Amino acid sequence: MTDVKKIALVPGDGIGKEIVPVAWEVVKKATSLKLESKLFDLGADRYLRTGEVLPDEIKEELKSYNAVFLGALGDPRVKPGVLERGILLALRFEFDQFANLRPMKLYRKDLTPLKNLDQLDVMFFRENTEDLYIGAGGVLKKGTPDEVALQELVQTRKGVERIVRYAFDWAKTEGRKKVTLIDKSNVLTFAHDLWQRVFIEVAAEYPELIADHLLVDAAAMKMVLAPETLDVVVTTNMFGDILTDLGAAVCGGLGLAASGNINPEGLSMFEPVHGSAPDIADKNTANPLATVLAGSMMLTHLGDSDGAKKIDDAVYYVLNENEVTPDLGGSLTCTEVGKKLEAYLEGQR
Ligand code: NAD
Ligand code: IPM
Ligand code: MN
Repeated sequence: MTDVKKIALVPGDGIGKEIVPVAWEVVKKATSLKLESKLFDLGADRYLRTGEVLPDEIKEELKSYNAVFLGALGDPRVKPGVLERGILLALRFEFDQFANLRPMKLYRKDLTPLKNLDQLDVMFFRENTEDLYIGAGGVLKKGTPDEVALQELVQTRKGVERIVRYAFDWAKTEGRKKVTLIDKSNVLTFAHDLWQRVFIEVAAEYPELIADHLLVDAAAMKMVLAPETLDVVVTTNMFGDILTDLGAAVCGGLGLAASGNINPEGLSMFEPVHGSAPDIADKNTANPLATVLAGSMMLTHLGDSDGAKKIDDAVYYVLNENEVTPDLGGSLTCTEVGKKLEAYLEGQR
């Protein structure tokens, strides 16, 4: 059947193994699409058992899927970077998921630690395939007093242009007003000068949108003091990583921050912004809502905007009823929040 959408489930490590099964049940309840799924065993357990991170056969197999639904990677038993680079970044790079969409959205007024913030709906577009993330560099004279460590920041015109254009296109389609470039062009006078020039060129093609600019240090301040002055943001891989955790904190924490890694012509991947949270893993206390909201982004991407809206409504419902996990001041378990969302969706049918 051609209309079946194949979803690869990659729970990964830590709380990823708790939140993905819960969020997946919610996605299935909300959608009218025919979904077929397969669970992929990737992460610390497989690595410690077999030495493999992302085997070639799995990369090949994933090509036949319509989306990846991912939890998180990273485990205290494994050296930092092995799983994060070897699986998560490998998937983003292999499938050229260049646009990382990260909404900074306030779902309930009192969830923000800020004073006088009533509503917020900012969309971050984080470049997802270049920058300091490419893994170029090396070490000389390791372990000696003369040690040298290099990590290279690489930006290409094509890479910068496609994310900037993607952000402007999205802003135009969604009827947004302003696109802000966040960079450090006052110091990174080669790499971020390229961002500046490309941004100005692309912005000229969208006269209906205001093209704005902030240096990253001032942007961090603005995200706390006046986040409502932002609308659509486009930024680099590293700055986007850091600023979207800050954005999550402004909107009630990592438990609510969703993320889509998009290749508009290929395989896209949906996941929460947060990591594997080893400090709370195996306790069934992790907040599943970030992953549930990533599921909503996945349904939008697959063409089911009704299903996506149902998920969003269900999230608003549990938030308003305070049927939430301890990070949001509630006392429910991860599984219980999932059941509340499912019950709401059943009532909707
Ligand atoms: P983290 O995002 O895992 O956790 C940060 C803090 O937020 C912790 O106190 C955690 O308990 C809390 N938290 C995160 N998600 C939560 C949720 N759903 N519900 C309730 N509380 C939640 O970041 P970290 O501790 O810096 O990293 C832990 C591991 O995760 C590391 O191995 C790191 O490399 C990895 N990581 C993976 C991803 C990813 O897979 N996308 C993202 C970030 C970090
Ligand atoms: C994220 C994470 C990853 C990143 C890490 C785990 C590689 O922090 O998705 O935000 O830096 O992109
Ligand atoms: Mn991050």
